[in-house]
Amino acid sequence: MTLIEKARTYDTPPLWLMRQAGRYLPEYRAVRQNYPSFIDFCYSLNDAARVTLQPIERFDFDAAILFSDILVIPDAVGQNVTFVKNHGPKLGEFHPELLDAPLEQTLDHLQPVFKTVQLLREQLSPQKSLIGFCGAPWTVLTYMIGREGSKDHAATKVFAAQDPERFQRIIMRLATISAAYLKKQIEAGADTVQVFDSWAGSVPASCFDDWVVTPMRLIVETLKEAYPHVDIIGFPKGAGPNLSSYVRGTGVDAVGIDAALPLNWVVENTPKEVVLQGNLDPTILVAGGKRLKEEVDNIHTQMRGRPYIFNLGHGILQQTPVDNVEALVDYVRGLKR
Ligand code: CP3
Repeated sequence: MTLIEKARTYDTPPLWLMRQAGRYLPEYRAVRQNYPSFIDFCYSLNDAARVTLQPIERFDFDAAILFSDILVIPDAVGQNVTFVKNHGPKLGEFHPELLDAPLEQTLDHLQPVFKTVQLLREQLSPQKSLIGFCGAPWTVLTYMIGREGSKDHAATKVFAAQDPERFQRIIMRLATISAAYLKKQIEAGADTVQVFDSWAGSVPASCFDDWVVTPMRLIVETLKEAYPHVDIIGFPKGAGPNLSSYVRGTGVDAVGIDAALPLNWVVENTPKEVVLQGNLDPTILVAGGKRLKEEVDNIHTQMRGRPYIFNLGHGILQQTPVDNVEALVDYVRGLKR
């Protein structure tokens, strides 16, 4: 049964956590230390599959999310990606022509990812969803044009403002590549895909439709045409009131909600059949204790009457105590509609 089927039918919400495979887990760090290059780790097949399964083995989450990164796409088109310790990602020079490489060539570079998905589907219980993912075109472009992480995404926004039509062509080309990439993950065994638009919150309101909604709709339409049964989760982090037009305009089955959005607003402003996912603040999970239970109760109460997947509002933080994750899982498993 998939995550979304569970959300629609179960008394207790299914759960998984964004970035559930990661540095807060000692068993992850033990495998990670064998790879000086993070990108090589993403393409490592057996070890990528192994760390994907670690959080399922430890916490029995309802879904495994492929261990990879959103920056494998820039890497695959030839914009050399490295991860610098205590700094984050660094990318080579950006040339829009990189995106014009033949699709087959880009997908061929990503074969290790598809093989990892195959390995995972063989190893994972049929009771668990396997989530494939990619970054949304806007978010990936902030790294490609900015060439590293940034807070304001100014380089990308200036580039867009200088030649909006060219920017739109680039963003739609990236949407086409992303859709082809997700199709391959689905063919390899992913039943659900999530598209991370982590920096949707820095898009000006007048551009939200062009940069966020339209490329995502292309991805959703492409996938649904080829695989009508695949479940698609969109995560436009920081979208604020634009969340409503995002859900209606893209056709996603489920939407990830960040911790800044009031859930009563979300419930009122999204169609009832859309599954909600979220939205515990990751720092509450670091703190744990009584506050954690109160916040979980709050979320559960506000989601009443709606199918939902329990999750965080953003990725789990590295300093999260493993015991707090254990306590969260126990508590969520005890919730009833
Ligand atoms: O959720 C999962 O467990 C699956 C794996 C996953 C990773 N990255 C592994 C990873 C997923 C879904 C991502 C998505 C991702 N990557 C996003 C979107 C989601 C979000 O959190 O907003 C973004 C913006 C990236 C780009 C990226 N990758 C950054 C900014 C960093 C941090 C750089 C650093 O050095 O801390 C990464 C690295 C990364 N991706 C790590 C993991 C577990 C940590 C690197 C390590 O282990 O050394």
